[in-house]
Amino acid sequence: MSDELIDLALELRRHLAWQEADGSRVILADRAALKAAATTPAPARAPAPAPVATRAPAATTPAARPPAPAAAVAAAPVARRPLDEIRRELGDCQRCKLCSGRKTIVFGSGNPRAELVFVGEGPGEDEDRQGVPFVGKAGQLLTKMIEAMKFSRDDVYICNVVKCRPPDNRNPEPDEIAACEPFLKAQLASLQPKVIVALGKFASQTLLRDSTPITRLRGQWREYQGIALMPTFHPAYLLRQPDEKRVAWLDLQEVMKRFGKQSDGKKGQ
Ligand code: URA
Repeated sequence: MSDELIDLALELRRHLAWQEADGSRVILADRAALKAAATTPAPARAPAPAPVATRAPAATTPAARPPAPAAAVAAAPVARRPLDEIRRELGDCQRCKLCSGRKTIVFGSGNPRAELVFVGEGPGEDEDRQGVPFVGKAGQLLTKMIEAMKFSRDDVYICNVVKCRPPDNRNPEPDEIAACEPFLKAQLASLQPKVIVALGKFASQTLLRDSTPITRLRGQWREYQGIALMPTFHPAYLLRQPDEKRVAWLDLQEVMKRFGKQSDGKKGQ
């Protein structure tokens, strides 16, 4: 690189220096670095992000191209479509083995304009029978938690990571989560809430692509596709460990603050 070019580059760098603050640009530091850069071959380009998903994979067609890397999938924006269109696309889903044991697909329920969305794990027996998320014992506790936050179930939207009941209420398996995830992502892209509350390990770890235990994730604000996300304990866990309700309530109070709501100290019992 000629000295003239280096001077030009340094001048440009001075003009752009303020942009370094956001960490989004790499600006060559000095003359030596510029010289080194001129002689170093360009690094291989990072893989292109996955194409925007407008349709979930069809049940019968095997993927034609290799799956995009997980990080690219997590970062890929999803088209905004109405919830009923997403439900239609889910159809009589046979995309994973949970279809064989379910009675009903539990898509989600609540306000399609909700600013607050709760994401649980997967339907249990009551939900499978009624087709509505969180209507059993854990659901009754969730309803109390929502009301303690000064919302009603009609204000919020509730859905799950997997839409079909895992047999004997076992944990959803990775292939089942992967098959259902495009629909959860599409729901959240449709709703564009102000805050997502991720209930328990599966919702938190799936949305955040973070395998940190829920005991450490909970209570810390995170982001999912630009939306504030608060991980907290699952109500079913709180039924088993009522002492943990106290910390879960702290998490929910953080969420209330985001909505300018004051707690009166009451929590869902
Ligand atoms: N637990 C969940 O995670 N979701 C439900 O819908 C019910 C219980």
